[in-house]
Parts: sequence; C-alpha cells; structure tokens
Amino acid sequence: MDFFHSGSWQSKNESFDVTHPATGDVVERVPAADVGDVDAAIEHLDRIGRDVMGRMPAHQRAEILHRASQAIGEQFDSLARTISSECGKTIREARGEVARAAEVMRLSGEEAKRINGEVLPLDAAAGGEHKLGFTLRVPCGVVAAITPFNFPLNLVCHKVGPAIAAGNAVLIKPASDTPLSSLRLVGILIDSGLPASAIACLTGGGGVLGQAICGDDRIRKISFTGSQVVGEAICRSAGLKRVTMELGSNSPLVVLPDADLDAVVAATVASGFANAGQVCISAQRLIVDRSVHDDFLQRLLPAVEAIRLGDPLDENTDMGPLIRRSEADRVGAWLDEATTAGAHVATGGEQDGAFVRPAVITDASSTMKIVRDELFGPAVAVQAVADVDTAIAAANDTSFGLSAAVFTRDLDAAMRFARNVDSGNIHINGGPMWRSDLMPYGGLKNSGIGKEGPRYTIAEMTETKMVVLHLGD
Ligand code: SIN
Repeated sequence: MDFFHSGSWQSKNESFDVTHPATGDVVERVPAADVGDVDAAIEHLDRIGRDVMGRMPAHQRAEILHRASQAIGEQFDSLARTISSECGKTIREARGEVARAAEVMRLSGEEAKRINGEVLPLDAAAGGEHKLGFTLRVPCGVVAAITPFNFPLNLVCHKVGPAIAAGNAVLIKPASDTPLSSLRLVGILIDSGLPASAIACLTGGGGVLGQAICGDDRIRKISFTGSQVVGEAICRSAGLKRVTMELGSNSPLVVLPDADLDAVVAATVASGFANAGQVCISAQRLIVDRSVHDDFLQRLLPAVEAIRLGDPLDENTDMGPLIRRSEADRVGAWLDEATTAGAHVATGGEQDGAFVRPAVITDASSTMKIVRDELFGPAVAVQAVADVDTAIAAANDTSFGLSAAVFTRDLDAAMRFARNVDSGNIHINGGPMWRSDLMPYGGLKNSGIGKEGPRYTIAEMTETKMVVLHLGD
C-alpha cells in the first residue's frame, strides 16, 4: 500500500511490514516516510491545501464529509477486517468502531454548517460607542493529526472530520503499528471529493517523524492521542502552536454499598477488558466498599473467566491479543510487581505470546504500577475502602483524570462523586469506558488538554478573529 502526500499516492524503496498482532503474519507493506517526506507534505499542504480548503464553502465541506460517512458504511465489513487485522481487536469490536467512524464523519459534516461567530455589544464599555464588533471563526491552516493504534479508524476520524469541517488542510501521522485504516480513510475522502492537496498521510517510525512534524511552524495545530510521555514531548517541540492532547488514564470504577452488583459486573467486563484493556478510559481501578467486596468478587470472577480469547476474526472471540508481544510482557511484569508487593491474582494473567488472560488483582494499593500508572492491558485492580469519602479520595489519588464511574442508588452520593472527583467524564451507574462520539471528551490533570467530539474539536481547530467597525454617529 502506498502513502499519500503532495496530491498523490506514492511508494518508496524504504518500507516496513504491518503485522497481525495475533499471528505475526505480514498484513501489508507500507512506505517508511523520512523527514524529507514530512517537509514535502507540509509544504504542499501549506502552499496549496490550506488555500483550497480556506476558500471552500461550508456546504461543500459538509457534503464531502457526508459522502465519506456513507462510503464508510458501504465498506463496513472490509474496513472492520482491516482494523481487526492491524490492531488485533475482535471483528465484533472492529465493526463497532466502523459504525462510530461513520457517525463521527456525519456529525462533523453537520457541524461544518454551524461554525459561527458572535456580535459584541462594544458600547457596554465606555469608549465603545458607535462601534460594531463581531467575531469570525477561521480555520487554523494546516492541522497535524497524530493518532494511536487502539482505534486506528475512529480516532483518526475524530481529528480529520472536524479538521475538514473547519476548513483546514490535514496531515495524518498514524501509529506505525496500524497505518492501514488511515490510508483507507484518505482514499475514501479523496473519492468523496476532498481535494488531493488538502490531505496527507505519512506512515513510518515514531519519534523522528513526530518531531519533524511538531517542530514545523507551518503546522498551526497539533491534535494528538496517545501516552502522557509522548504528549509531553510533543508539547515541548510544538512551541506556540495550538495543541489538543488526549492522553492516558487509570480510570476508577467505584462500587458503593447499595450498588446493583450484577450491573457493576457487566460494566466491569465491558469497561475493563474491551480491546484487551487497550482503551484510554478502560476501567482499571475497582474501588469497592468493604461491605460488598467479597460478594462483588464472587460475582465478578466467573464473568471474567468466561471471556473467550482467540482469533480476532472468529465471531465467537471476546478478546484478542495485545498490540505486540512486548506489551504483553510489560503487562506481565506489572502484575508480577504487584504480587511481589502484596497483591493477589484472583484470576487470569497467564501469557501466551501477545495474549494475556483477563486478570483480576485483589489487595491492590496505590504504590503499585497497576494502580498508579496507565496499564493499557486486560487487568483490573481491586481496592477495598471504608465509605464514600475514602472512595472519592481513592478515585482522586492519581495524576490522571479522564473518566470515572460510580455505582450507587443514592443520588446525593452520586452527585458528591460527580462534583468532587477530578475527571473530564463522570458516569453514574455505567462504566467509565462508555463514550458517545458527540459528547465533549477530554481529560483533566495529566490526562490532557482540550476536548474532542466534533463540535468541540472544531472549536479547537478554528481561530477567532475580532472585527471592529468604527461607525460615524
Ligand atoms: C481512547 O482510547 O482514547 C478513546 C476511547 C474511545 O473513543 O472509545
């Protein structure tokens, strides 16, 4: 498969394999971009694409996005297979991702028509008499979308859809493990009428490309999803560019004494182990009131043990491998560290290549990596607490704050949790991994800067210009 920049599909002598995480089989070979490609791609986007997109009327941008949404729907099964083959998620999860991607493009198309400024009453301050003020929302110019492996289509759509809706040109740098869905998205957009000068997708290895993109002043906005460490490195290279950072988390799921325990079990399985736990808002820390701790565990363990691992393309598989064998090794090392420090493996944790059996770890404490850091793997760490106040304190005992959940029938306790837990998203009686693509989504503390969701991303991908008309009397 070729990569796309400067208005055309291009191949290169230097290339690399995209492999299937479950088998190691080669799925495709793609070009390995270098800093020369970055320079050429940005030059084209800045010189031609920015202008073309800046002049394109909103209704045309909306039509392109609506056509792309429809095309994603028409290619539903083959896109799902591409996603599953490059990132290892199950085919059922991959179908869910394709449906969401079509929705994100549709929402972006709708929002393209709602980008408006406001009229300001300048005479509200002395000296503003006889003046008319209004704002214009204009595109940033060239946007860089740096995207992760875990949702190789939908998290690209979350950046590219709003970038186009707002009238920007866009450079995609997908994760090197999973470039294929991005390349297919570029094809869909071009077929949907997006000018070829307005988009580029460069595949290839990590740090050097990322630095070249982020340090280039022709890029005016960087939207990144990934780890805190990489996010911080990007911010250091970015200088005065606008940035949106969707970083990691170790989401808490709090169980209060009056919770519906069967609902909590279902939410834990869905939120803790989907995509083998490789989701930024996976339930990682189960903070459980001591009075229901044993009863909850008794119900949870069989549900976790029933999760079927296997070939991601098999309809009966519930959970696939991690993205790489080295990631499975890392998860294993973190579990070992926790057990050495006094935690117990109640179930799971066995490793076979890139697969790790879903694990429940009890007697966890906040100094252990599986509690303190972002695990990004299929394990939940259970901590017992005395009451709602200690539960809230435990939920906040983290440098992250992306999503948090509480299960209780007590509205006052739920609202206390919502007000006092420092997290961008709060769920009451639902797992922390639930996301609607239209809602504002983004973290507090080290989980990031800014919000996604097409309407909110568009706000971050446009600049506000203030216009003042100095009138006569
Ligand atoms: C993420 O893992 O960053 C996004 C999760 C989602 O979109 O569901």
